[in-house]
Formats: sequence, C-alpha cells, structure tokens
Amino acid sequence: TAAPDLGGLHVVVSAGGTREPLDPVRFLGNRSSGKQGYALARTAAARGARVTLIEANTGLPDPAGVDVVHVGTAVQLREAVLKAGADADAVVMAAAVADFRPSEYATGKIKKKDGVEAPAVTLVRNPDILAEISADRARPGQVVVGFAAETDDVLANGRDKLRRKGCDLLVVNEVGERRTFGSEENEAVVLAADGAETPVPHGPKEALADIVWDLVEARVDRAGR
Ligand code: C5P
Repeated sequence: TAAPDLGGLHVVVSAGGTREPLDPVRFLGNRSSGKQGYALARTAAARGARVTLIEANTGLPDPAGVDVVHVGTAVQLREAVLKAGADADAVVMAAAVADFRPSEYATGKIKKKDGVEAPAVTLVRNPDILAEISADRARPGQVVVGFAAETDDVLANGRDKLRRKGCDLLVVNEVGERRTFGSEENEAVVLAADGAETPVPHGPKEALADIVWDLVEARVDRAGR
C-alpha cells in the first residue's frame, strides 16, 4: 500500500472524451479511452486523497472509493469541473475535451433528402476549461494540471501550450497511429511552469499517474487546510 501522502487533499480528475451531439443518435467524438484518468483517480485514492472523478463516455466501471460524476458534453464537463473544483486542492484535466461542437442540435434524426448531396455541419468553439480554471483559480494555491497529445515537435509545442493554458503542470505525450489511445501504457514528459521537466519512461499508466501526484504534492499549498 502507498503512503497516504495525499491525505487531507481533495483532488478532481476528468477522464474520457466528450461527445458533442448532432441529433439524438449522432455525435462528434474522439478516441480517448479514459484509462489514464482512471489510473490518476485510483492512485490518488490509494495515496489518501478524497477524489472526484468526472467521467465522460468511457464505459469503464466506477472505481471504488471515488466520487464519480458522469457527463457527456464539454459544456457539461465544464459545469462539473467548476462545481467539484471549487474546494479542490488540485484539478487534473486528463479528459479529451472537444474543441468544437455542432452549432445546432437537431431534435429529430437528420434525414437524407432527395436532390441534396449532404448537409453541411457548422461548428462553434467550446469553452477551454483548462485555460479558464488556470486563469481563475477557485482556491489560492490550487494546482492545475493539463494533458497534451502532440504528433510532432512534442516538447516545443508542449512548452508553448503550458504557457498559453496557464496551468502549473502539463503532461505531454506523443500520439500517432499506434500510440497511447486505448493502450495500458504511456510515455510522456511532464512540463512545469516553474521550469522543471520530468521525463517519464514508457510504462504503465499508474506509474505516470504516481509521478504526476508526486509533482502535484510538491506544489500544493497545504496552508489553510
Ligand atoms: O488545446 P488542447 O486540446 O491540446 O489541450 C489539451 C488540454 O486542455 C487537456 O488537459 C484538456 O483536458 C484541456 N482542454 C479543456 N477544454 C477544451 C479543450 C481542451 O480543458 N475545450
């Protein structure tokens, strides 16, 4: 059993991927499995934290000893993160949040029409939850962690994203055709706003999760707890 070094802390983890509905039967989605977010939730609970897991479309069973909130869309995920994050010591955004959603939702199933090739789908921007909670911390000293999947110039893009999002830690991993999605393993670099860069060798998602919690624990403000 792990040392309860996160005892007394409340941490919020988002996991999975949002689905943005077009009509009652169709959505725009992504390939996030939710496994890294679940590993983060399990390891934090094992280390003594009170954990709220905000789950989007993973199909995974609720982990024991964790409060789970189920959401579907980016807008619902934002509401849940703001609510649970209000008194959290750390928020880890492992979920893949859709950057865009269909601008209109058809309340009835979209049908083929004679003489019309295909309907056009227009999109609107979703809120950037990570940027928002980083800019507007719910508690002083709250640690905010983001994830970034990059296909090339991984480190340069990661450093740039860390700055733009304003979070404290950014876990950057390289993705490609056969990497990361749905896999039990991960390989990453954790970039910190204070300049620290922690390479994490290829290994189980739990190992990466433990390193993230080590880095969070070192930065969390326990004063006033
Ligand atoms: O900008 P990009 O999507 O690459 O950033 C990934 C990080 O930002 C992840 O931590 C993800 O949870 C978060 N994100 C968010 N809201 C969005 C898009 C991404 O919080 N609309």
